[in-house]
Amino acid sequence: MKLDLIPLAEQPREVQDATRARYEPMKSIVPEVEWDLYAPYVAAINELKKQRNAIVLAHNYQTAEIFHGVADLSGDSLALARMAVDTDADVIVLAGVHFMAETAKLLNPDKTVLIPDLAAGCSLADSITGADVRLLRERYPDTPVVTYVNTSAEVKAESDICCTSSNAVEVVESLGVDRVIFLPDEFLGTWVAKQTGVDVILWKGHCVVHERFTPEEIRRFRAAYDGIEVLAHPECPPEVLAEADYVGSTSGMSRYVAETRPAKVLMVTECSMADNVAVENPGVEMVRPCNICPYMNTITLPKILDSLQTMTHEVTIDPAVAGRARRAVERMLEVGRGTGG
Ligand code: 13P
Ligand code: SF4
Repeated sequence: MKLDLIPLAEQPREVQDATRARYEPMKSIVPEVEWDLYAPYVAAINELKKQRNAIVLAHNYQTAEIFHGVADLSGDSLALARMAVDTDADVIVLAGVHFMAETAKLLNPDKTVLIPDLAAGCSLADSITGADVRLLRERYPDTPVVTYVNTSAEVKAESDICCTSSNAVEVVESLGVDRVIFLPDEFLGTWVAKQTGVDVILWKGHCVVHERFTPEEIRRFRAAYDGIEVLAHPECPPEVLAEADYVGSTSGMSRYVAETRPAKVLMVTECSMADNVAVENPGVEMVRPCNICPYMNTITLPKILDSLQTMTHEVTIDPAVAGRARRAVERMLEVGRGTGG
């Protein structure tokens, strides 16, 4: 099915109204001239979703026109996994990165899961293979393997349990052991070790967005913005986390701002996230050190539309790994809801 884009003004009144309503929350960050370019895509995607019984799940790092314009549900990696379990839709379009789409597919083997661009990878997922995990298991027998969801299904299949940044502490504590192999994010693993007192065997995987922050940079922001509160994602280096007032997942940071309403906030994470939090918290001054995730940013409105029109790119998982990978993700979901961290 290939649709022509119809200018918004030529669309039925109810489509124009529904599309305009999507713009209202993001008015403060998306100028009207820019919105005029997005609106026909937003209208077409939202109409096509109805025809396909599809939903768009968007990660917190998606840009405003996606996050507010076409997402049905949004959240951090843990929330997206839970939403994927709960949906009645036949088609899930994952506006995020590939490992998130793969997790949705693992939990919904009978649904169609689409990722609008196959280049939406992740430096952490790229840092480790299933063969690496097997070698670590040989070297440290009887040590449970806790794997961050930012990995391929092949790596999850070699793991005992998965975690996200939101529930990593809870997952490690749930095992009741003194030592775990924690893969692949060295910095998240170091942070979890500090919170839990559990010894961690680490891998040298890093996030290309968060590894770039430095403590000097944070101190410069503190000096320039009197009274600013610093919120950091646990994928940042330990020296950066030591400078933060709050460390948590992307949803944890959003919740922190909504609940404490600080006057000024420095978001030490991907910069689109600060736009989305700003929209929901008028009156809070957001300072955004603009580190962009090149993978998240491959997803655009034209690609989401194309994905729904052509039903590409459909995520498939080798049946030889899917069962074992699913078990590691489901075991994580059984641990309970995230700590909010
Ligand atoms: P969250 O689970 O905190 O949303 O993190 C996902 C991610 O990719 C952060 O870089
Ligand atoms: Fe991966 Fe980092 Fe991008 Fe998140 S921000 S998807 S961890 S590269």
